[in-house]
Amino acid sequence: MVTPLRIAVTGAAGQIGYSLLFRLASGGLGDRPVELRLLEVTPALPKAEGVAMELVDCAFPLLSGIDITDDARRAFDGADLALLVGARPRTAEMTRGDLLSANGAIFTAQGQALNDVAGDDIRVLVTGNPANTNALIAQQNAPDIPAERFSALTRLDHNRALAQLALKTGTPVSEISRMTIWGNHSATQYADLSHAVVSGRPALELVDRPWIESEFLPTVANRGTAIIEARGSSSAASAASATVDAARDWLNGTAEGDWTSMAVVSDGSYGVPEGLVSSFPVQTENGGWRIVPDLEIDGFSRARIDTSVAELADERTAVRKLGLIPS
Ligand code: NAI
Repeated sequence: MVTPLRIAVTGAAGQIGYSLLFRLASGGLGDRPVELRLLEVTPALPKAEGVAMELVDCAFPLLSGIDITDDARRAFDGADLALLVGARPRTAEMTRGDLLSANGAIFTAQGQALNDVAGDDIRVLVTGNPANTNALIAQQNAPDIPAERFSALTRLDHNRALAQLALKTGTPVSEISRMTIWGNHSATQYADLSHAVVSGRPALELVDRPWIESEFLPTVANRGTAIIEARGSSSAASAASATVDAARDWLNGTAEGDWTSMAVVSDGSYGVPEGLVSSFPVQTENGGWRIVPDLEIDGFSRARIDTSVAELADERTAVRKLGLIPS
């Protein structure tokens, strides 16, 4: 019998969890059976129980077990994949420092628990915001886990960029490759079309600079806000779908000749300071990844990458000052 993939999902009773868990259990990562560990804060455990009842009622053939807990060490024990979705949302009265500090407490503790009990092949994907810096905090608090096992989700931004380019060019998404998101999962992110290919042609031959600057980039960067305005709550199904896409590609590999966008610990590539968790064009294979090397970066792209990376550097300085990561 095949050993099930042990997947811990934090924030399991939240909006994203309500979509994500069903995608994982119905084969979103492939045809290997899955065991789900649902981690929640104590007051949300009854809600998580309700979600688990629905998962059971789906009679998913690949779902081999569900455990519900408020204990991170239990959820992460022997886990192969940790999807860190649960985070403290920003409320009106909170400053940015308050937000970093509240999330810092969560991701410090979860990083330490992962370090102590996760499986040898653990991969950690952070969706909860501020995702890049939360991933940095978890990674820095898990010194025994190789840094390349941590990543933060910029796949939703990548998918949004693919979708907008597909709409503009009247091309199916499946015909577009080599899209890149650089930097932070925030409004400063940069969706780079310089290397994108649409049905075998460079995207830059099909769209013009004014459209990129005045429509494409703002639409992709501000899509989260537009969805909140339209729906009354933040993107959840699309965030869950992107989380599944990112985990699946990480474990199973990107298509030949293509790449994806993942925020990973920088090795200094493309002038991004070492150690920052920043989004790059990334190719994956056999559960590992590498940053696509040697892409040409023009002045337009350079300025935007630098702005987003500067924001990440500021966030790192702030969490260092709070003592959440070593100096
Ligand atoms: P939500 O508020 O509906 O759910 C969050 C859940 O996390 C709640 O059930 C809460 O009880 C739980 N939680 C809080 N602290 C926890 C802890 N220490 N351990 C375990 N669970 C904990 O939020 P939603 O909509 O599901 O979003 C989750 C996160 O994902 C937010 O931070 C949101 O900003 C972020 N997000 C990220 C995106 C990305 O592309 N990276 C896209 C959309 C959302």
